[in-house]
Amino acid sequence: MTETAHTTIHRHDYRPPDYTVESIDLRFELGKETTLVRSRLALRAAYDRSGGERPLILDGHRFVLRSLCLDGAPLAPEAFQVSEETLVVPSVPATFTLEVETELRPQDNTFLEGLYRSNGMFCTQCEAQGFRSITYYPDRPDVLSIFTVTVIADRERYPVLLSNGNPMDRGELPDGRHFITWHDPFRKPSYLFALVAGRLACIEDSFTTCSGRGVSLRLYLQEANRNKGEHALRSLKKAMRWDEETFGREYDLDCYMIVAVDDFNMGAMENKGLNIFNSCYVLATPETATDTDYQAIEEVIGHEYFHNWSGNRVTCRDWFQLSLKEGLTIFRDQEFSADMESRGVKRIADVRYLRTAQFAEDGGPLAHPVRPESYMEINNFYTATVYNKGGELIRMLRTLLGAGRFRKGMDLYFERHDGHAVTIEDFVQAMADASNMDLGQFRLWYSQAGTPLVEASSSFEAADGVFTLTVRQSCPPTPGQPDKQPFHIPLVVGLLDRAGRELPVTLFGEPAPGPTTRILEVNRAEQTFHFSGLDSEPVPALLRGFSAPVKLDYPYRPDDLVLLMAHETDPFCRWEAGQQLAAQVILALVADQQAGRELKPDQAFVAAYRAALTSGEPDRAFLAEALTLPSEKYLAELMPVIDPGAIHIARRFTIRALATQLRNDFLAVRETCRSTRPYGVDDGRSGERRLANLCLAYLMSLEEQAITELCIQQYRTSDNMTDTMGALGPLASCDCPERSQVLEDFYRHWQGDRLVVDKWFSLRALSDLPGTLDDARALIDHPDFELANPNRFRALVGAFSQNQPHFHAPDGAGYRFLVDQLLRLIPLNPQVSARLLAPLTTWRRFEPGRQALMQQELRRIQALPKLPRDVYEVVEKSL
Ligand code: TRP
Ligand code: ZN
Repeated sequence: MTETAHTTIHRHDYRPPDYTVESIDLRFELGKETTLVRSRLALRAAYDRSGGERPLILDGHRFVLRSLCLDGAPLAPEAFQVSEETLVVPSVPATFTLEVETELRPQDNTFLEGLYRSNGMFCTQCEAQGFRSITYYPDRPDVLSIFTVTVIADRERYPVLLSNGNPMDRGELPDGRHFITWHDPFRKPSYLFALVAGRLACIEDSFTTCSGRGVSLRLYLQEANRNKGEHALRSLKKAMRWDEETFGREYDLDCYMIVAVDDFNMGAMENKGLNIFNSCYVLATPETATDTDYQAIEEVIGHEYFHNWSGNRVTCRDWFQLSLKEGLTIFRDQEFSADMESRGVKRIADVRYLRTAQFAEDGGPLAHPVRPESYMEINNFYTATVYNKGGELIRMLRTLLGAGRFRKGMDLYFERHDGHAVTIEDFVQAMADASNMDLGQFRLWYSQAGTPLVEASSSFEAADGVFTLTVRQSCPPTPGQPDKQPFHIPLVVGLLDRAGRELPVTLFGEPAPGPTTRILEVNRAEQTFHFSGLDSEPVPALLRGFSAPVKLDYPYRPDDLVLLMAHETDPFCRWEAGQQLAAQVILALVADQQAGRELKPDQAFVAAYRAALTSGEPDRAFLAEALTLPSEKYLAELMPVIDPGAIHIARRFTIRALATQLRNDFLAVRETCRSTRPYGVDDGRSGERRLANLCLAYLMSLEEQAITELCIQQYRTSDNMTDTMGALGPLASCDCPERSQVLEDFYRHWQGDRLVVDKWFSLRALSDLPGTLDDARALIDHPDFELANPNRFRALVGAFSQNQPHFHAPDGAGYRFLVDQLLRLIPLNPQVSARLLAPLTTWRRFEPGRQALMQQELRRIQALPKLPRDVYEVVEKSL
């Protein structure tokens, strides 16, 4: 733990760099103990020197400085100053070269930032500010340079040596070493630099771009995983084609490389021409990966590929603009996945994530705008707000502009800013210019934090057939922002009659009939819309497609929701109707518990679910979404004071009530969804598998021996991980004698496969059973638990912190377990530690007892001497 200076960086303090780097030559000598890095920078003053000379200030830390030369001559000790995080040279010429030699110990780098080792290979992670732990450099995204990189290492142990761009030169050296020199013709910021060295297998493919250029695609992985990269490569080709067809974006280098590594802080990294991936987003075989894993791989492969334009060709001026690349790229990967799968189901999954992760963040002490105003540690701002809410803002722009003008805006953005480091404002301006629209008010979405509440109410004037919708918007205070101005909200609506038929939506005074769906532009605190030409009172379908990241409140009656569940044309609204109905029912059961009343199943609700289950809905994945009850986390979001125990019981009660009354329907639907054919990736049956496994999960709540046997039978005969997990998930929460045998069998079978062992840790940490905390504690001492491997830590400790009833145990034991483990992780990996603190930061949402316990645990971290900046920021802001 070195960083102890906890200063705040403000967006308004941005100044262009004083010195830019025309080119950088890097030479890495990867050794057994130490790595020597020699960097030669061609620097140029970028300011007017007639007003006085400014010092050269370079970022750097966590290495040993070996030597420093300016224009070929060693710098005298009094000619520069080294502080904890910078190198300052007070006087330099207008143009000059600086040579810096540094010495690193990658094998000791547990932060997984900069140059580090993972499983015998060398790799880098430079976003956001990892490059400064390799050498002194202006480590900021608005300094773009041409990189030439020579990697030198032992040929036997590191036959593969990679960096960005194209290989230029290679050769043998004495002592069994070899080298390769890479040159990247595109100017890039340091955060996109990458290097990999190791003994790696390579699987190859090729892609011909729309203009006929051939691109060599190479996926590097450990020899033992050679058979697991096919899906990732196929996904890459799909993404490349899709970006050409959808956005007219062509790839620009001769090769595209992806490397899978086991130790990685996040999902993946878009380094120019050399993406580095957490192996969980690359490796898949039917036996080891679920359908969900396959989809996640496709999405993340797409995400990193799309960054080549939205992020690399056009990059961020400073880190406050992070959503410029991340929000846009999330939107692009969501659209890609929607086109590859079922659009409606994809939208539902994205909304589900936004409403749990992002809404919680936006309502808590770490709430920040999509474009933050300040930060201490930028790594803490790779958030659901910057990514996913940022993606929603792009989606709203497309809704408001229409697909055609949106595409024109995208083209204009890329044309104007290719090769530059720009701002969110530049992006919005391109959209405004391409569409001639006034986006002034829309910009508030980037600067105001918090989730707007849209309260709608309606009335119907039978005499003149006019339906009136009144819409009020407000936004709760967030840290530093007590008052908010109204947002520009696209509210997409439709109208249904009592028979479930879609009606024309005709605004009063407009010629009838209007379209069956329309965009209402809500832009004031209160507004009224009149719809005419209606014979009877319609049921409004509001926020179709989840057209804005808001909380919508409309007093739907249960029978309105049942009607929407059965007939609404928009998949999101249809799904949402069922979720609202379920939430009403479950929250009523929570109130019953709190009032000491007996819990009783809601018969109208059971009937609505029976109708859905037996509807024969052809989109099986959609039906599975529709039959999945709102998560405990989402239900918690809806409560003024969260009662995790009561939510858990109410949700379990509802599952069991449905299973009891619909037992034979669940069995029958499961039968129709099961196939005797062997599993196939992309066999079009993932929806069936999902629905079948959901039915099984419902049935398992009955705790019936016959069902348990069915479940074990599925486990024993499954030829794919989707069905294996479909059986294991419910078994892990089943208090039956077979449970431990099956879990043990699974572990023994997959002991050598890291990603599957991660699943095993998570299964146990997520169990409903009473002994789960003790089990999690015991697993900490399991020989396969690895504190320093982020995937493994997240699989056990991270998963446990998502286990609502156990993490929130009233005596605080769950909180204590998390913090006990974080106290061990913080010195090794502050970045991952800070992210895993999130569940404790929401303490204000609980009753006083839990509040005190959660705060107490946060204070235990606060009391650490020399708290790393990442963790310090989260703890300070949340207490
Ligand atoms: N830019 C990466 C992405 O969204 C995110 C990322 C990968 C990252 N590794 C990181 C961010 C480490 C911060 C630190 O695709
Ligand atoms: Zn990204």
